[in-house]
Amino acid sequence: MDKSCESARLLSNNDELPDGSSTLSFPAKQSSRHLFITICMLLGLSVVLNIVHTVGFMLSSGFGVAQPLLLAKVGPHLTVQTQWLQTSRYSSRNDTERDVHWDNINYDNGLVAVPESWARDRDLPMGSVFPWDNTKRIYLINAYHAMHCLKNIYRAFMEYQESLPQSIAPEHIHHCLDQIRSDVICHADDTPRVTTSDMRPVTAECQIRTCRNWEALNAWTLANPACYRYGDPEVEDEKESQIERMKFCPEGTPELEVVRKYFNKGKEWLPAEEKLWSWFEKVPKKGV
Ligand SMILES: *[C@@H]1O[C@H](CO)[C@@H](O)[C@H](O)[C@H]1NC(C)=O
Repeated sequence: MDKSCESARLLSNNDELPDGSSTLSFPAKQSSRHLFITICMLLGLSVVLNIVHTVGFMLSSGFGVAQPLLLAKVGPHLTVQTQWLQTSRYSSRNDTERDVHWDNINYDNGLVAVPESWARDRDLPMGSVFPWDNTKRIYLINAYHAMHCLKNIYRAFMEYQESLPQSIAPEHIHHCLDQIRSDVICHADDTPRVTTSDMRPVTAECQIRTCRNWEALNAWTLANPACYRYGDPEVEDEKESQIERMKFCPEGTPELEVVRKYFNKGKEWLPAEEKLWSWFEKVPKKGV
């Protein structure tokens, strides 16, 4: 990169441009009265445009065809400042440690059950009925689907590297790659990654960026559980009924009692306490 680029100064309103012109110039003879009228006209136009825009928005959200939301804005919708790092435990050079961290990623709580009215208020298409409370509908929060996809892709690659049989169908991996691709396009993240002037430049090193608050989203999903566990797909996908995957209602939820009745269990039965499935049950040599 050209050295001078590093010290490029920002132009203020009246700074001279390289060709000698100014960014905000009026002919000298223009009277201040003329300027005042121009500003009043611009303000008036701005007010009219705002009204048009607001009425248009009300029409589109109230009476017209429902527009899908950019983001559903579930939960508190907070942001945090985070530092971008080149490496993390998920890219550790120690295969054993890296595998353990990827295996520990749990996206089950991304499946949520929300009141039907909540979904209606957000113009969402209706999800499937929650079996333990038919006033609720089931949704999978997109970030958790992406996490499921990344974990699948990681696992397929790990199996390839270790010459193990592929446990996930190639179509599933292609679907996952395509979903993440479409997330990238959808989010069109325009954050400029700062570059270094090294021979082989790196970008975004230690840069601070603004992120959606994952912890807040996670807390919201945990407060609206669909009691779901994906488990071992090679076993669970084959089952005739999928209801077993939905029995993991945490203590304190009104649905736990319904689940206990359904499965003929007593108060001592705490399905959410069951051990989470780990892929090391299939790949024992990496268990720690
Ligand atoms: C990798 O991590 C595991 C678990 O922490 C450790 O036992 C092992 O010694 C590490 N291997 C190397 C090569 O550092």
